[in-house]
Amino acid sequence: MSLADVRYLPETPAHDPEIEAINDEAFGPGRFVLAAYKIREGGPHERALSFVAVDGGTVVASVRMTRIAAGAGRALMLGPLAVRPAFKNLGIGRRLVAIALETAAKAGIAAIMLVGDEPYYGPLGFRRIPRGQISMPRPVDPDRLLAHEIMPGAVARLAGEVCHADQAKIGEPIAVMA
Ligand SMILES: CC(C)(COP(=O)(O)OP(=O)(O)OC[C@H]1O[C@@H](n2cnc3c(N)ncnc32)[C@H](O)[C@@H]1OP(=O)(O)O)[C@@H](O)C(=O)NCCC(=O)NCCS
Repeated sequence: MSLADVRYLPETPAHDPEIEAINDEAFGPGRFVLAAYKIREGGPHERALSFVAVDGGTVVASVRMTRIAAGAGRALMLGPLAVRPAFKNLGIGRRLVAIALETAAKAGIAAIMLVGDEPYYGPLGFRRIPRGQISMPRPVDPDRLLAHEIMPGAVARLAGEVCHADQAKIGEPIAVMA
């Protein structure tokens, strides 16, 4: 395997079984009780903004993006991000995140949040969301709530409980831009 052979593609429904297997391998069945999964149950993820890394026709890594709402704020939630064990530490995870951030910015997304490790995501442009600003539908370590701001002020507009954007109350703004 050479890194030069790895291609990065927008996700399609044909990738679903392999992505499911990668996430099962990375997170196990316990993933379904995580706060982020609870939010993702509220609606579909955004395929056009989600990416896979493919080596010789096999999916070796995946990052998914889901539209979320929190108060007046709108953003994407990044995750799950997972890389098959044999392909870890080659820069594939970082590259997938970079592609997802770049595509989101071009699509007019205001901010991206996630639940994850600050030591990994910090160098990729994520900062801690101030404690108490947002909450999740299930308990999370507040230090793992991170955001990458694309449009100034977008992270500050995220407030209260995070839900899938499809579950946001009618009457709240749906625009992702200020
Ligand atoms: C975390 C994960 C996505 C990283 O992908 P990857 O392609 O292996 O990582 P990259 O090659 O982009 O980056 C590797 C670097 O990140 C570091 N790293 C990996 N996971 C880390 C973590 N959880 N916290 C801090 N640093 C981490 C590695 O030590 C390595 O550091 P180095 O460059 O200084 O040697 C991958 O290991 C994975 O699938 N893990 C299981 C699922 C998971 O934990 N997903 C993230 C949820 S927050």
